[in-house]
Amino acid sequence: MKITNICCIGAGYVGGPTMAIIADKSPHIKVTVVDLNEPRIAAWNDQDVNNIPIYEPGLSDIVARARGRNLFFSTEVDKAIDEAELIFISVNTPTKTYGTGKGMAADLKHIELCARQIAKVAKNNKIIVEKSTLPVRTAEALKSILDNTGNGVQFQILSNPEFLAEGTAVEDLLSPDRVLIGGESTPQGMEAIDSLVEVYSNWVPRERILTTNVWSSELSKLVANAFLAQRVSSINAISELCEKTEANVNEVAKAIGMDSRIGPKFLKASVGFGGSCFQKDILNLVYISKAFGLNEVADYWEQVIIMNDHQKKRFSKNIVQTLYNTVSGKKITFLGWAFKKDTNDTRESAAIYVADDLINEQAKVALYDPKVTHNQVLFDLNYLDTRSSSENEKHIVSFDSPYEACKNAHAIAILTEWDEFKDYDWKKIYDSMLKPAFVFDGRNLLNPERMKEIGFIYQAIGS
Ligand code: UDX
Ligand code: ADP
Repeated sequence: MKITNICCIGAGYVGGPTMAIIADKSPHIKVTVVDLNEPRIAAWNDQDVNNIPIYEPGLSDIVARARGRNLFFSTEVDKAIDEAELIFISVNTPTKTYGTGKGMAADLKHIELCARQIAKVAKNNKIIVEKSTLPVRTAEALKSILDNTGNGVQFQILSNPEFLAEGTAVEDLLSPDRVLIGGESTPQGMEAIDSLVEVYSNWVPRERILTTNVWSSELSKLVANAFLAQRVSSINAISELCEKTEANVNEVAKAIGMDSRIGPKFLKASVGFGGSCFQKDILNLVYISKAFGLNEVADYWEQVIIMNDHQKKRFSKNIVQTLYNTVSGKKITFLGWAFKKDTNDTRESAAIYVADDLINEQAKVALYDPKVTHNQVLFDLNYLDTRSSSENEKHIVSFDSPYEACKNAHAIAILTEWDEFKDYDWKKIYDSMLKPAFVFDGRNLLNPERMKEIGFIYQAIGS
């Protein structure tokens, strides 16, 4: 089937950027991104492309080029489903917060709602593509719903997990290491795979498009994220050992990374990984392993999360201990709230957990993040449900200027590795703080010698 009309359900961090690139690279395909969230769609349609709801370097230019030509954002879900030959499902699949599998399994209610809606609306054969990260064998559930509730229409289900990382989404989409497409090995399945391969072939070299069976594709996504997260937890475990010895984690990372079998990437010690995927996907892997009775496998992967939680906890604990065992009433300034630089996404950011710990200790947290709004910060803290929202509001204040945020602070904690933090006038910041002035660098971002020369008591992860 030659694809001329694509619908994507879900205009979030995955659906929005991915569809913008497909539309930009395939002017002959009409791409409509739909979402139930009206303000979100309105923001995607904002006259000023700088106001689109997702910040990714390079994305607004691409949206400006394709929007209104062959890229559309809409809340008319049924219409877009009806018109499309191929439908991507890019809705969120958070960890369940209730019932069986609470805190572990993926919540698939949004996926199921999409399937039921597609089944209700579809009048001709369609290819359904799982783009959201899903537990293995979700395609089976999707197929069952579609085949049993539809109007006799034929559906082919493909798994096409997204490997883009936030902050580099445009780059990752334009030249992916690989595109993975899983489908059934029946003639109809192969035909569906070929249709999607053709879409990506508009800009991705054929040898980088990998086709597998559905289950391998679904599992590969979880495993890729688990391996990446495992590397971060591994180096973070070593960072604690470095702090107890004379070793420096940056030097260790460099030395091991030069072994071509290990490689240099993803070896940066940090205050802990965040983001919507790592924790969720590992919990998923743990959950399905347990479901099959593979307890050793489950425990092995769970340790990656345990280590990550420990890393966040020990960062906040160290701040309290270093500040003479009390932060009560003290102004502690956070630089950064996003889970990594170059994104406004804050899901599972280490900053949220460190702030929560310090607020428990009655600290006054001041915050500057170049891209995150104060509403989002409050939302993140309230979501933890540790205390009332009015209590949270009393304990955290956001500033528009980093210099104002740092004024009269006892300590600064660096939670996100935004490049601009390196270029601040640190002498000016030092002069405006209470003394002794502490910096806790959770990202190994600043130059230790320079910071100590200015007069800071400077502590970084892993040294
Ligand atoms: C990840 C995967 O990289 C991507 O392929 C998948 O599609 C989605 O999940 P993302 O969560 O956007 O992407 O960001 P990533 O760059 O992987 O970083 C995840 C977290 O690990 C961040 O909090 C980051 O700061 C942290 N990290 C990463 C480290 O602490 N040290 C490192 O060396 C690398
Ligand atoms: P991701 O990082 O996976 O892209 P997001 O939360 O950023 O996750 O985006 C998912 C989007 O999917 C949200 O904007 C949400 O409103 C949308 N969504 C969830 N369920 C449905 C549904 N049944 N129909 C349409 N949109 C949906």
